[in-house]
Amino acid sequence: MTDIAAQEKPAPGGRAAKGVFIRTYGCQMNVYDSERMADLLRPLGYRAVAAPEAADLVILNTCHIREKATEKVFSDIGRLKPLKDARAAQGRPMLLAVAGCVAQAEGGEIAARAPAVDMVFGPQAYHRLPEMLARAARERGEILETDFSVEEKFDRLPERSAAGGPTAFLTIQEGCDKFCAFCVVPYTRGSEVSRPAAALIAEAESLARRGVRELTLLGQNVNAWSAPAPAGFGAGIKPRKDGLWGLGQLCRALSRLEGIERLRFTTSHPRDMDDDIIEALGALDKLMPYLHLPVQSGSDRILKAMNRGHTAADYAALIGRVRAARPDIALSGDFIVGFPGETDEDFKETLALIETLGYASAYSFKYSRRPGTPAAGLPKQVPEAVKDERLAALQAAIETQRRAFAEAQTGRVLPVLFEKKGRHSGQLIGRSPYLQSVHATAPESMLGSIIPVRICGATPNALAGELCEGPMTASARAV
Ligand code: 5AD
Ligand code: SF4
Repeated sequence: MTDIAAQEKPAPGGRAAKGVFIRTYGCQMNVYDSERMADLLRPLGYRAVAAPEAADLVILNTCHIREKATEKVFSDIGRLKPLKDARAAQGRPMLLAVAGCVAQAEGGEIAARAPAVDMVFGPQAYHRLPEMLARAARERGEILETDFSVEEKFDRLPERSAAGGPTAFLTIQEGCDKFCAFCVVPYTRGSEVSRPAAALIAEAESLARRGVRELTLLGQNVNAWSAPAPAGFGAGIKPRKDGLWGLGQLCRALSRLEGIERLRFTTSHPRDMDDDIIEALGALDKLMPYLHLPVQSGSDRILKAMNRGHTAADYAALIGRVRAARPDIALSGDFIVGFPGETDEDFKETLALIETLGYASAYSFKYSRRPGTPAAGLPKQVPEAVKDERLAALQAAIETQRRAFAEAQTGRVLPVLFEKKGRHSGQLIGRSPYLQSVHATAPESMLGSIIPVRICGATPNALAGELCEGPMTASARAV
């Protein structure tokens, strides 16, 4: 969970500034959407504030993927209610908005369960926020100016703010057509839609001008992105067999932009991992050696019940091809334990797959029954205690591999992009090509730069490093 709470400049045009507090739950798509909501609200005179107490507008940008995430939203609404009442009593009304996937999936229930909520809007509607605020303000007898009218999501959004430092997300694709039996995303985010290449290149150029050095391309199925080649750009980039561009071609185009030094993408689906993407991973220095490729289970029986459309062997073969192209790739994944019908034998197959492939990191979850998904109605739901046990065993296996991968960096000199100041004075925090956090004593002037750092050790959450002269013994390319 993250809060947008940066202090920003006063509202343009001398209008009295209003405070907005945005709390983000869940995935990076939501983080991106929250940043864009803040951008959208800036011309309306809203600036980000550090706490809901100071906010005229509180937005909860929610996640529906697991039950716990949803329940958290309702308890946060409960905590905000007295705050809202107190502000109302002082004549300083606070608007409370619920955005994101819970809003999409449970809009009616929010209205019934939480009357304190003034606005509910799903992920496809946040661009209509100015309109909705104007309506709410009118109802209260206030006038709210909008500086522009908003059409489709992503169209005519204001320039991105430079608040985020040297790294930024860029949503290139939204939605999912895969319909895994456990997952709400196809219902909350809709079907797969790709943004046009020209718009993405323009947004990336604008981010580069604002000092962004690393772009992470986002999508629920980011490697399903495809679009016609943009006119007048991309000479020498060979399209796919179907004549379109895919993620591989887009990465090639973005890697040509001056100022953009690093590219990443997440989250990929095994079925959409085509040859062009693998080739790009092998060929592009700027494409970082890190791949988040969820497999969910190592048992073919469970993968079939999950409607994943691939077997464990398909996934392993795919990783083999990726590693042939990019031997030093840091592999990450998602796993679910306790899917309905999962036996000890199935679970052992998941552990075996982890053992065989080797992960640098991974996310793992207990299966959470989501109403409306096919798996919710399946028999043989796995008891919580069994899920707990399997989760602990899986996490222990992943942790061993994560530590081994981290410790293998000791002694290497890695290029680190310094992103922010650390907790200790004189310390900066950055990322290795493998997405590991790296702490080092370094001057502030190095923020936003990629600097060679010798790795001296690994702590549970980060690598410790020191600045060093001389050539890198291991670059993003080398093994
Ligand atoms: N229960 C548990 N985990 C889930 N995920 C998606 N839906 C569920 C669910 N119902 C996990 C998957 C997915 C990640 C984003 O969240 O592992 O890859
Ligand atoms: Fe959900 Fe499966 Fe789509 Fe991922 S691929 S968003 S898990 S339905």
